[in-house]
Amino acid sequence: MTSKTNFVVFVYPERATDAIPAGRLTLVEHHAALLQSTFGYGKQYVQRRDLLALDPLTLALPGPGESVLREPPITANGQLIEFGVFRDAAPDHWGRKLIENKLHRTGPLPESIYLAHAGSNRTGALDFRDTPNALVKTNELAQLLDLGYLKEAAEKVEAGEQIPARLEKIFEAGPTMGGARPKAVVEANQHQWLAKFPLRSDTFSVPHVEYATLSLAREAGLDVPAIRLEDIGENRPVLLIERFDRVRIGNDYSRRHFLSALTMLARHEADSPHTHYADIAEAIATHGAASTIRQDQAELFGRMIFNILVHNNDDHLRNHGFIWDANLQGWRLSPLYDVVPMPAFSQERSLHLGVGLEGRLATLPNAMSRHGVFGLTRPQAIAIINRIANTVREWKNTFEASGVPSSDIDRLASAIRHPREVGIQEIKMGNG
Ligand SMILES: Nc1ncnc2c1ncn2[C@@H]1O[C@H](COP(=O)(O)OP(=O)(O)OP(=O)(O)O)[C@@H](O)[C@H]1O
Ligand SMILES: [Mg+2]
Repeated sequence: MTSKTNFVVFVYPERATDAIPAGRLTLVEHHAALLQSTFGYGKQYVQRRDLLALDPLTLALPGPGESVLREPPITANGQLIEFGVFRDAAPDHWGRKLIENKLHRTGPLPESIYLAHAGSNRTGALDFRDTPNALVKTNELAQLLDLGYLKEAAEKVEAGEQIPARLEKIFEAGPTMGGARPKAVVEANQHQWLAKFPLRSDTFSVPHVEYATLSLAREAGLDVPAIRLEDIGENRPVLLIERFDRVRIGNDYSRRHFLSALTMLARHEADSPHTHYADIAEAIATHGAASTIRQDQAELFGRMIFNILVHNNDDHLRNHGFIWDANLQGWRLSPLYDVVPMPAFSQERSLHLGVGLEGRLATLPNAMSRHGVFGLTRPQAIAIINRIANTVREWKNTFEASGVPSSDIDRLASAIRHPREVGIQEIKMGNG
């Protein structure tokens, strides 16, 4: 049976704690298959002109007399069926599983069901409601004290078990953010945090290691949100990462609009491995405010170098993002997230995204080969490489100080590269 679902898409303007309607999203579905989506900006939203385009490429604000109706973009892999910006605000693998559990249904379910059940505290500044006047159900945020329950509930969801009534808080706190790993949103110290739980199937303590890797990235001068490890017993802590899409205002939070790099580049998920860091660097130049482009491009170059050195090859286009800066009227590279070293034995390694003229090959000379696209002179690019390599060389200290169990440090040693293994000598000799 083919059905049509309409949502009123709401946006929280920067520094506002109430949302305003931006337009109407229509999804045409046949059972779980999404056949078509269209979005039309509301007249009032367009007339205000002080509000942002939900996505600068695909959903540019219409000029006077132009149609307000939009369809998803055409990519190298054909026309997208879903708008990336709405997909960014929808649950992913983990959130979908949670919603299926809550509804006692087996997935996949129609996209409209996932969109409707992700709760209004979702990623970024969007919300999806039935009508322009719909009342928002604001639930109390889960607190640090709830972490043990949330983790217990997450384990049941992973195991495919039903959630008992005493653990139902996970249904509000859980499906908010994207990604595959179990997570929830909690409030602590008047901030909102993304809580990432361990999985029973993990071969090392991922929360410890992600904490240590983000700490190392911060030591290397990269832009990392506040993080903490919460010990909730059995030496299996939960990683908390401060949400960069929320800002405390009085007793409430305002929201910052978020786009994944996948959306910003208007790509199909299947295009992701054919996309280069340089493409993201160009998007920064196109959509960033003039005063921040250089800084964000250098930061992106640094993240690519860091990913080479710690062998984080899960650097896909949803693991890079942009945040709207209303003051500067431009898109900023979001703070860093989701970096975990991947143990490996082969010497020749690749990242997920293209690094340089030799494609995805994870070496420093390959990274140097297109440094100009990142707005860097050769000495500037080499200085970034040296800064990050010198920090990563000392990774064991940071991992030990972060409480990573010593058996995990041994397991991870094969992931971390010595700068010589990835060609630092060639750069120093001027060949990179
Ligand atoms: N600090 C943060 N503030 C706001 N949003 C965040 C933050 N960190 C991550 N996100 C958003 O949440 C999503 C899921 O987070 P993350 O990538 O860490 O989860 P994951 O389950 O490990 O992902 P993957 O499926 O790539 O392994 C991200 O894609 C991003 O949209
Ligand atoms: Mg991720």
